Order: sequence, then C-alpha cells, then structure tokens
Amino acid sequence: MTYSTIAGTGGYLPERVMENKEFEKIVDTTDEWIRERSGIKRRHIAADGETTSDMAVAAARKAMEAAGVDTGDIDLIIVSTTTPDKVFPSTACIVQRQLEIRNIPAFDVHAACSGFIYSLDIADRFIRTGGAGCALLIGSETYSRILDWTDRSTCVLFGDGAGAVVLRAAEAPGVISTHIHADGQYEDLLQVPAGISSGYDQVRKARAYIHMKGHEVFRKAVAVLGEIARETLAANQIDEGDIDWLIPHQANLRIIAATAKRLGLPMERVVVTVDEHANTSSASIPLALDVAVRDGRVKRGELLLFEAFGAGFTWGSALVRY
Ligand code: COA
Repeated sequence: MTYSTIAGTGGYLPERVMENKEFEKIVDTTDEWIRERSGIKRRHIAADGETTSDMAVAAARKAMEAAGVDTGDIDLIIVSTTTPDKVFPSTACIVQRQLEIRNIPAFDVHAACSGFIYSLDIADRFIRTGGAGCALLIGSETYSRILDWTDRSTCVLFGDGAGAVVLRAAEAPGVISTHIHADGQYEDLLQVPAGISSGYDQVRKARAYIHMKGHEVFRKAVAVLGEIARETLAANQIDEGDIDWLIPHQANLRIIAATAKRLGLPMERVVVTVDEHANTSSASIPLALDVAVRDGRVKRGELLLFEAFGAGFTWGSALVRY
C-alpha cells in the first residue's frame, strides 16, 4: 500500500510589511478595530512587479530544500491560486518553467481559500494510485491586487504570500484522510464579480475586486468549520485529544477561536499566523505549517488537522501525521 507524506515545507512573504496603522490614513478605520474584529496586526504586500509565480517559486525552493529533493525528483506540480499571473498559461506551468522542470504534469487548482486542501486531496490521490511519487504543492496569492483599497470592510483583511509542501510516496501515512466540499449557492456572499466570459469592467461595470458580505461569511464559516472538524474526527474514529495541532485557514482570529472552542481544543494547540500575515487565502495553511515547523512547534510524528473555508463556498479538511 502506498501513502503520501509531507517531506518538507517552505514559505515566502514579500519584504514589505504593512501595519494596521497605515490603513488609518487610507480608510475610516483604526488599528484597534482591525485587531479586535479580526486579530490582524500586519500583513505583507507584494512589491510592484512581484507576481504569484515569483512567490510560489521562492516557497517551492525552500520546501524542496527542506525535503532534501531537487527539481529532478518532482513529478507533479499543483499550484492553488485565485490570483494567477495570467489567464493562461497556468501559474503552475510558469512555476515549472522558472524551476526548469520539464515534461511532468503541472496545473492550477481554483478553490479560493480552500485551494490548498483541494490540492492536497488531489496530490494524495495521484500518489496513492501510483500517478506521482513526489509532488510539489504550492498555495500562492497576491490579494493586494484584487482589493478595493477604498473599501474598509475588505482591504484590511488580506495579505500576500506563498506556502509550499513536497508530498512524497511513503509506506505509512502521511496524509490519513482528506474531506472536501462545495456549495455554489453562496456565490453572492464572497466574490470577485469580474472575469473573462462574464466580462471585465466594460460589460458588467463590476471591478475586479473582492466583494464580501463579511458577517454572513463569518457565520457560515464558523458553522461548516465546526462540522468538518467533527466529520474528520468521526471518519478516523479519533477525538480531539488525539490532535496535536489544529492548523486552520487564517481568515479571522475569532473564526479560528470559535472553531477551536467547538472542537474543545485549547488555543495553545492552534497555529495562528493571521496576526502577522492576515488572510493569504490558499497560501495560509502551508505558510502556517511552515512557520510552526521552522519554529519547532510542529514535530515529526505529530497529528495535524488542517481545515479551510472560502469563496464558492468551498471547504475542506485533512488529517495528517507529520
Ligand atoms: N474599520 C472600522 N469599521 C469597520 C471596518 C473597518 N475596517 N470594516 C467594517 N466596519 C464596520 C461596518 O461598516 C459595520 O458598521 P455599521 O454597524 O455601522 O454598519 C461595523 O463595522 C460592524 O460590521 P460587521 O460586519 O457586523 O462586523 P463583524 O463583527 O462581522 O466583523 C469582519 C467584520 C469582516 C471582520 C468579519 O465579518 C469577518 O471576518 N468575516 C469573515 C471574513 C472572512 O473570513 N472572509 C474570507 C473567508 S475565506
């Protein structure tokens, strides 16, 4: 029986750090409001010309180094992003070229903030069925480019960055189970209402910015994240006491705390990066994992629960023995 296991992690954050205070000069907000309502203190913002693929490549190189593999070992690349460099080619193909890897499958996954969980689900299936032996999974996002910097209810919540993992075939799991869901009826609550077939500004007068009904998104996120955590524990016949670390999507500290509370997990066993990174969408889980691996919190052999929620709505979880 073949399983998949996380062989190494990597992360990249743009150099520029933007503090909450800076928003006080741009929109009608305060550092206190942002901290209290979201838990965010600061975020990283991509430099002019710095792209999703640039950040993805930087995170990928670190993950490969940590895993002790080189580009010749990689036989699958999946990039999860909702902020691709171009309509096509896929960001995964651009990353492949930059890493000088040839003739292996490379594609993007578009599942908004749940993208990394979707990628992990897909790559795990590739590896378990013999379709790949060493996969590079990257979540990379440049949300600063789809923010309306005059909308205080969204612009304070997001940041840029990339996280990556190398997933390898192994005799023992690794990835124990993945659970992915979607329900398209919530499109209006969280969207960037512009695109190719529906037209950009000219056609719908819709600007390519995030539009969000924050309170409704918040309520739905808390509900489904609680449910998916329970679903994951039940599917594996374990309870919350078996989980060493909850590594959730980092959107809002209050959502994270509510999920931990529903699970009965103390915050000491939750990896939190939303304070430093804000919401980096599909990059947030691999980035948080990388931070906790590198600072020594997450150790080999520990049991990790990942969970995410995002536009669509999409949501998902993964139980992983690191
Ligand atoms: N500064 C000051 N006030 C702000 C503000 C800001 N940056 N943004 C919004 N407000 C105001 C609102 O206009 C509203 O004012 P009103 O009552 O006069 O209309 C008030 O704050 C409260 O808004 P509300 O939406 O009820 O606050 P909230 O407690 O729900 O917190 C969010 C707002 C956006 C932080 C929260 O809803 C949230 O995090 N939602 C989920 C976001 C998310 O996770 N999105 C991505 C999913 S992957």
